[in-house]
Amino acid sequence: MRNYRLLCLLLVIFSLVGCFKNGEHETPASQVRFDDIDVWVRIFEDPERAEWQRPDEVVAAMALSEGDVVVDIGAGTGYFTRRFARVVGSSGLAIGLDIEDSMVRHMNREALKLGLDNYVARTIPTDNPGLDSGSVDVVFLCNTYHHITNREEYFRRVAKSLKKDGRLVIVDFYKRELPVGPPPDHKMAKETVIPEIHSAGFELVKSHDLLEYQYFLEFKVQ
Ligand SMILES: C[S@@+](CC[C@H](N)C(=O)[O-])C[C@H]1O[C@@H](n2cnc3c(N)ncnc32)[C@H](O)[C@@H]1O
Repeated sequence: MRNYRLLCLLLVIFSLVGCFKNGEHETPASQVRFDDIDVWVRIFEDPERAEWQRPDEVVAAMALSEGDVVVDIGAGTGYFTRRFARVVGSSGLAIGLDIEDSMVRHMNREALKLGLDNYVARTIPTDNPGLDSGSVDVVFLCNTYHHITNREEYFRRVAKSLKKDGRLVIVDFYKRELPVGPPPDHKMAKETVIPEIHSAGFELVKSHDLLEYQYFLEFKVQ
């Protein structure tokens, strides 16, 4: 909990620096850089995070199958990605994508350390997840949605990457004061996310009521 308060503070400081530098008016949180791996490992991998993030329950609720290909966009330190790798087994694949080389290097080191041959990480540009058409069973984003710009175009690309019956899963903070996460004006309301994703060609198929501070939504291509 303490480290997530620190995250809030860092988000505000970094985003203000970004705004001053660029003079742009986009969502301030999208300016945050995640390039200091030591700082972000302490925050994202804080053992106290599991109390409210409930990662194993989130993964269980996603009902993944052995052999699934799961892509974690904005995977960070791979907090969820390595869990996906364990669940989908050696016939499946968990792919951690991030715009920060330092995060990607960290994930690939972890995959080696954990002996997970089915866990790979790649660096992607900010505007394109670079996924082959019809290649993915589940695309997952946790606390990353608001960092993506030109979202309609971006998620149309995501839709194309999904296999038949593939799913898009989004977990993100409710837009209100919470003891964890960034301040409310850096968050995106579920009521904004659902129509945006709808315009990108998806329909909401499930809303899990599992997490105290985050919505947890599943979409399929319409
Ligand atoms: C708040 S962190 C969430 C990390 C991870 N999903 C978790 O729950 O621990 C957001 C991550 O998204 C990445 N990111 C930011 N903009 C991105 C973009 N356009 N495409 C992919 N990743 C992005 C950042 O580098 C960072 O690692």
